[in-house]
Amino acid sequence: MSIPRGFIDDLMTRVDIVDLIDNYVSLRKAGRNYTALCPFHNEKTPSFSVSPDKQFYYCFGCGTHGTAIGFLMNYAHLNFVEAVHELASRVGVEVVYEQGGSTPASITAFDDWYQVMAQAAQYYRQQLRQSQAAIDYLKKRGLTGEIARDFGLGYAPPGWDNLLKTLGTDSDMRTRLLKTGLIKQNESGRRYDHFRDRVMFPILDVRGRVIAFGGRKLSKSEHEPKYLNSPETPLFQKSSELYGWYLASKIRSLQQIIVVEGYMDVVALAQYGIPNVVATLGTATTHQHLTRLFRKLPEIIFCFDGDEAGQKAAWRALEMALPLLQDGRSVRFMFLPKGDDPDSLVRHSG
Ligand code: UTP
Ligand code: MN
Repeated sequence: MSIPRGFIDDLMTRVDIVDLIDNYVSLRKAGRNYTALCPFHNEKTPSFSVSPDKQFYYCFGCGTHGTAIGFLMNYAHLNFVEAVHELASRVGVEVVYEQGGSTPASITAFDDWYQVMAQAAQYYRQQLRQSQAAIDYLKKRGLTGEIARDFGLGYAPPGWDNLLKTLGTDSDMRTRLLKTGLIKQNESGRRYDHFRDRVMFPILDVRGRVIAFGGRKLSKSEHEPKYLNSPETPLFQKSSELYGWYLASKIRSLQQIIVVEGYMDVVALAQYGIPNVVATLGTATTHQHLTRLFRKLPEIIFCFDGDEAGQKAAWRALEMALPLLQDGRSVRFMFLPKGDDPDSLVRHSG
């Protein structure tokens, strides 16, 4: 049994070598690349370099070089198969083996999962165009059609099986819908749409692929939570994703980012000309959030409510950030007046 070439190629497109190496060696940005003291020989000034573009590392001092797999083999002393397993588990895929024979085994269910998320996003966008109630809601909240389009907002109509009926046309599709959390199954085996009568915010990964959704209810019903998120899946780990990061990371020479709490805050600020904003997804700020941001930019501004909860959250964020504060990096805190969130503040005060 061997691991098909196609699987490894596919795996390599999902892994970021900078992310990987940064777990072991503290990388600093230097132009397009990242540098560090070389972990493979003794040195006082950094000559170890990692290229995000080439997905390759190289040491100008000792000449060691390689890919993500090579790094794990060298640094962690894994053999090739172990290194592949380690990378696969980091991105949440199972290693596929060829069953003898010459036909390559199928890669993973993963591409299908991204595809089903993309199809769902498209379905929700199309439903938004057709729902006056949802359009009215977004207008009432002051959103323009343009910003709704930029963020790919959509609408999950009321009813238990709209998405299920539209996309779940065969049993493979229904399985994918279940695995990605777009549909649910109750104890008696009945399946139903997870998101109903909600404005849909697609959550994108660093490559711009839809990996999850947040949905805000339209109804005033007290029985439904205001926001509902996709469950965690191999595509989506809440604690490392940031809403809005894909769009924000595209901004040229990004120097600072504002971290807020809500989807609506990100969208509203972007509409008012402040596009360098991300939101955590209902969790406290994590180490992964901060390393991801600091790798791209030197300054993080946390924006919290002025109340006690906001001060607590700020303290936790500070504790998370302190160990990561090297030369040139900074964090700042912004506390909003009582009763305001960034969305309301920017709308009434600009
Ligand atoms: P807020 O309740 O502050 O949301 O929750 P918001 O963005 O101001 O909502 P609007 O303006 O009323 O639409 C902030 C974040 O907390 C998470 C969501 O990620 C939300 O964006 N949250 C909130 C949930 O996950 N579930 C909830 O029921 C409420
Ligand atoms: Mn709000």
